[in-house]
Amino acid sequence: MTTPPVPKSRILGTGHYTPERVVPNSELEKIVDTSDAWIAERTGIRRRHIAADHEVNSDMAAAAGRRALEAAGLNVADLDMIIVGTISGDTPMPACAVHVQQKLGAEEIPAFDISAACAGFVYGLTIADQFIATGKARCVLVVGVELLSRLLNWQDRTTCVLFGDGAGAVVLGPAKDDGRGILATRIFTDGSLAGALSIPGGGTAEPLTPDGIERKRNKVHMTGSEVFRVAIKNLTGASTLVLKSSGLTSKEVDWVVAHQANLRIITQVSDRLGFPLDKFVLNIEEYGNTSSASIPIALDEAVRDGRIKPGQNVLLCALGAGISWGAAMVRM
Ligand code: ACO
Repeated sequence: MTTPPVPKSRILGTGHYTPERVVPNSELEKIVDTSDAWIAERTGIRRRHIAADHEVNSDMAAAAGRRALEAAGLNVADLDMIIVGTISGDTPMPACAVHVQQKLGAEEIPAFDISAACAGFVYGLTIADQFIATGKARCVLVVGVELLSRLLNWQDRTTCVLFGDGAGAVVLGPAKDDGRGILATRIFTDGSLAGALSIPGGGTAEPLTPDGIERKRNKVHMTGSEVFRVAIKNLTGASTLVLKSSGLTSKEVDWVVAHQANLRIITQVSDRLGFPLDKFVLNIEEYGNTSSASIPIALDEAVRDGRIKPGQNVLLCALGAGISWGAAMVRM
């Protein structure tokens, strides 16, 4: 029996932002050879929110961040670090977090990005928890944000139907002595699978050329079936590890907020973990796969509508390009 860990940091507030424009599956039927029935049956997605032309990634991140600060009852001046998980930042340089810092009007605090694709939020949470645990930070804004609609090949039905835009955020602060907080985190990467999901062009290895643009080398490429298999195995594995490290039994876990990539992946993880599907917070139907934003969006929705209550144990797990993945156990 593992001794229950003493949390060092806890979630003080959550927030999210999703763009106004909703694109149902039926609209995609007009663009590529697909159908509402295929998308809904194979993925669980019925619609996604797509950013307006004037919106950029950091606008969404800042909006989610403001809402998380408000929920925490804190001001931007209380922040002493901003971590943004994203692979679709406003510019290759500087980091998206820099623009978020400026839009929030934060002081001269560290602000940096984490590039771990769909696992970016869990990575960010893990890092923020470490900074607070060592006393190097007191109040950290962790954001997961993606504007993947601008990085998709809208002629490729195997990817364009899957993703949506949005942002979610949490404010982390020091834990009190009431047992609430981050109980355990685990993060992993297996670079041997880097080619299974990538944006191959546009970096320094393959600078963009007119031919590269023509061949959509600067857009998302994915071997979905490979990622699918690995996702089920690794999400189950990381979740099992944090369950053990947190000293909790399966029955003591109140909610699971898993990355919303595919309802069939979530269903199989639920089977393997032996957790009923009604313990899972699901919103894939509404937003599709919002990559690093999916966990904090779902978490915030469930907190705001009262499903997730203070003191409940929530398992978070995510996997994405890398392949990078991870899990965290949080007592809210
Ligand atoms: N509409 C209709 N048919 C389609 C579509 C579509 N949108 N997409 C693929 N198909 C077809 C394929 O062409 C194939 O046809 P074929 O048999 O004639 O060749 C058939 O459907 C089956 O294709 P599969 O790829 O085997 O479909 P699958 O059931 O595996 O679903 C999917 C594909 C949804 C991509 C799934 O594999 C998946 O969810 N993978 C994991 C995604 C994931 O978790 N990504 C990680 C996070 S993302 C990130 O990090 C940014």
